[in-house]
Amino acid sequence: MIGPDFDHFCALILERSGLVLGPEKAYLLRGRLDPIARSEGLADVPALLAIIRKTAAEPLISKCVEALATHESSFFRDGAPFEALKTLVFPALIAKRGVGQKLRFWCAACSSGQEPYSLAIALHEMAGMAALRDVEILATDFSETILTKARKGVYSDFEVRRGLSPERQQRWFERDGDGWRVSAQLRSMVTFRHHNLLRGASGLGLFDVIFCRNVLIYFDPNRKRFVLEELAKALAPDGALLLGSAETILGLTENIVQAPGARGLYQKASVLRASAVG
Ligand SMILES: C[S@@+](CC[C@H](N)C(=O)[O-])C[C@H]1O[C@@H](n2cnc3c(N)ncnc32)[C@H](O)[C@@H]1O
Repeated sequence: MIGPDFDHFCALILERSGLVLGPEKAYLLRGRLDPIARSEGLADVPALLAIIRKTAAEPLISKCVEALATHESSFFRDGAPFEALKTLVFPALIAKRGVGQKLRFWCAACSSGQEPYSLAIALHEMAGMAALRDVEILATDFSETILTKARKGVYSDFEVRRGLSPERQQRWFERDGDGWRVSAQLRSMVTFRHHNLLRGASGLGLFDVIFCRNVLIYFDPNRKRFVLEELAKALAPDGALLLGSAETILGLTENIVQAPGARGLYQKASVLRASAVG
């Protein structure tokens, strides 16, 4: 499979999604692209890569980009960011923002929706605080297929049990066939929108809190740097950025720094510079 068609395909995927592929990932390509090759009536994955190089055909390329993305997610994933939100981030924001001032949250690379819906639940549970506030949660991903699932908000038994207490399940979900549907109240708090992190964040406005977890790990250093700089621009001066536990900003940007008090919590470097001068 390794050869010019493979190299061309890897470059295409890198440009479209930031996913770094190489010969060591040939097994991944085989597993994920075989169903597409078959559905196109092709003999195998090498034949698919050859067609893609020859014809640059859409929507075939988009299908491959989608198939190669990892959508793994769960409710209240990793716990710590939601704890940091409750104990550090939200109280600080409430203290600084006036009543009536909208609080804007962005879940960048939200996958099937568990992260923004967890955020919506957490905001409700911060007794009294969320109720008083005008809150907007924007949830974006570059996969239309996964956004369709997220908008629907229906999860299997396994998915709801993974991360949700029985109390939360009871309070925020209702039976829908074999699955569980997120309550209309939570769904109304979240706006899902298509967005590719590699195209920048201009036009989305400023956010008080950005969750961007478990997606930078797939990018090469240049793309990580670009995305982090864009997130810094989209963050309010005193806003908070939450990255995944396996993600680091080390050597990538000087505009974001680790915030005290919690792992995975970051803030704009300009806040520190301003407080050092003041
Ligand atoms: C592993 S999931 C993480 C979901 C969630 N943030 C979490 O931590 O549970 C990664 C998501 O990133 C999305 N993604 C990958 N590359 C992207 C890009 N360039 N722009 C936007 N989303 C991207 C994938 O479609 C996938 O849904």
